[in-house]
Amino acid sequence: MPVPEKQISLEEHVRELDSELSGLICAIGGMTVPLRNEFPHRLMGVQNAPNKYGEVVAELDSWANGFICDSLIKTGLVRKIYSEELERPLTYNASAPFVVTLDPLDGSSNIASNNPFGTIVGIYKKDLPCKGSNLVASLFKLYGPITTIVLAAKKGVHEYVAHRKGGHKYVLLHEKMKLPEKGKVIGFGGDITDYPDAIYKYTKILVKEKKLKLRYCGAFVGDFSQVLHYGGMFMYPALKSKPEGKLRLTYEGIPMGNIVEQAGGASSNGKISLLDVMPKNVDERTPVYVGNRELIEGIKKALT
Ligand code: F6P
Ligand code: MN
Repeated sequence: MPVPEKQISLEEHVRELDSELSGLICAIGGMTVPLRNEFPHRLMGVQNAPNKYGEVVAELDSWANGFICDSLIKTGLVRKIYSEELERPLTYNASAPFVVTLDPLDGSSNIASNNPFGTIVGIYKKDLPCKGSNLVASLFKLYGPITTIVLAAKKGVHEYVAHRKGGHKYVLLHEKMKLPEKGKVIGFGGDITDYPDAIYKYTKILVKEKKLKLRYCGAFVGDFSQVLHYGGMFMYPALKSKPEGKLRLTYEGIPMGNIVEQAGGASSNGKISLLDVMPKNVDERTPVYVGNRELIEGIKKALT
């Protein structure tokens, strides 16, 4: 990845945002290296109790959740945290400006095999549940071979990397990212034999006619990042046995929908933008389709 000669730190780059928002984003950036450094020491074991969705929780998952929540509290800027790993939201100082959503370790089934996983964050002023169009910012971190942060805070989508030229702090890597016009890759989750016929047919069109290359890593953050860089599409669709899909609207679909839309792409639940869906509750699931506009239009058409 080419790092520009002049290093612009995350702090400098977000300075034009309001000071409370830039303070929170910098604090979230600052917790990345200590969090990542701890991963190898937290690999063993699972928690005794499953999470609120009945899923097994890796020790790393619950530790990461605790670490991120504690670090968020210390900023004094957060009044409520909704996390995929918490039964109920955590509430603090009622006068603090922000409400934060957290998928602390997205793609945690990749932990054991040492494949990519990440963190997804949504930042609001309004309390939840509310539409994604109320987001003030969203970001994801990808703990791949290199740990990157991708941020959308109303002024486009930017990617940052911790670089020695910036004193090992996060510096700008790509500014105002846009999905390449012609998409190259497709990733899709779920059992394809369980896909509704229209989706199965469209998948074949994407691969056979549109010549998208199939690449699926099993973590939303990783599958999303390749769409952002190479163009194409990611979907975790409605399934015959699970029409609501697998991914969570508030914790996953909305923050990533905000990023893809600000990068010139589109997001959808099969009908409308993920940012226009009014969640009934924060744990609601949704089919997720994100990528180049033309491809998302295609899936919407296929589903009508
Ligand atoms: O958070 C849920 C998640 O781990 C996503 O990161 C990923 O896209 C999906 O589940 C993978 O699901 P599956 O194991 O069914 O491919
Ligand atoms: Mn997730």
